[in-house]
Amino acid sequence: MFDRIAHRYDLLNHLLSFGQDILWRRKMSRFLPQKEDIRLLDLATGTGDQVITLLKMNPAITRAIATDMAEKMIAVGVEKAKRLNLNGRLRYGTGDATALQFKDHSFDAVTISFGIRNVTDVGTALREMYRVLRPDGRALILEFSLPKNTLLRNLYLFYFRNILPGLGSVISGDKEAYYYLNRTVESFPYGDDFLRLMQKSGFETVFETPLSGGIATIYCGIKADTNS
Ligand SMILES: C[S@@+](CC[C@H](N)C(=O)[O-])C[C@H]1O[C@@H](n2cnc3c(N)ncnc32)[C@H](O)[C@@H]1O
Repeated sequence: MFDRIAHRYDLLNHLLSFGQDILWRRKMSRFLPQKEDIRLLDLATGTGDQVITLLKMNPAITRAIATDMAEKMIAVGVEKAKRLNLNGRLRYGTGDATALQFKDHSFDAVTISFGIRNVTDVGTALREMYRVLRPDGRALILEFSLPKNTLLRNLYLFYFRNILPGLGSVISGDKEAYYYLNRTVESFPYGDDFLRLMQKSGFETVFETPLSGGIATIYCGIKADTNS
């Protein structure tokens, strides 16, 4: 499905979120580990907007790997990285977020934006993220959630159920993709429920930061530093 919409994916993200997705991705950089020489893994990277934003904002990220299952999404990302001269710091590859081809303790940060909702086994993906993190490393997860404020929630759900899927279908040329978005967001755990899933997967410290009234949330999971 993502391969089918790859050519219009970025445009639709910016259009349907009224540009909010750009601000949400930038906010992720605030939660990166405060250190030099950061090794970062971006899962379900799609067209690479999240990893590219982080590389642009934080020069301490010296090496980033970005993986996804959809080759056409990655191809868009590779072109963007070339245009921005990021090739020295960023490497793309295909891969399943639930079966990572990396050794334990390989990264300082693992990110996944609007991807965790799409993997078939969320618990396995979270455990894999934990496994490949170094002690004191951080998993940063950006995902849609639902606002707690009733008025905002109702307005948002009206837009989300009645306007966004039709608009998405017309612009992407794909009937299924934006109805899928609507269905998965409403049924996916968020807030405390999602933090509990992270804890169950091993993360010793977890916290969340809601964005735009709770339309999206950044979840942070920190792997305990065995030396402290
Ligand atoms: C909504 S897109 C998000 C892309 C990007 N991270 C962003 O912020 O725009 C979801 C991506 O998850 C990928 N995906 C779904 N299941 C996956 C899995 N098990 N392993 C790796 N990627 C997966 C899809 O191919 C798609 O590119």
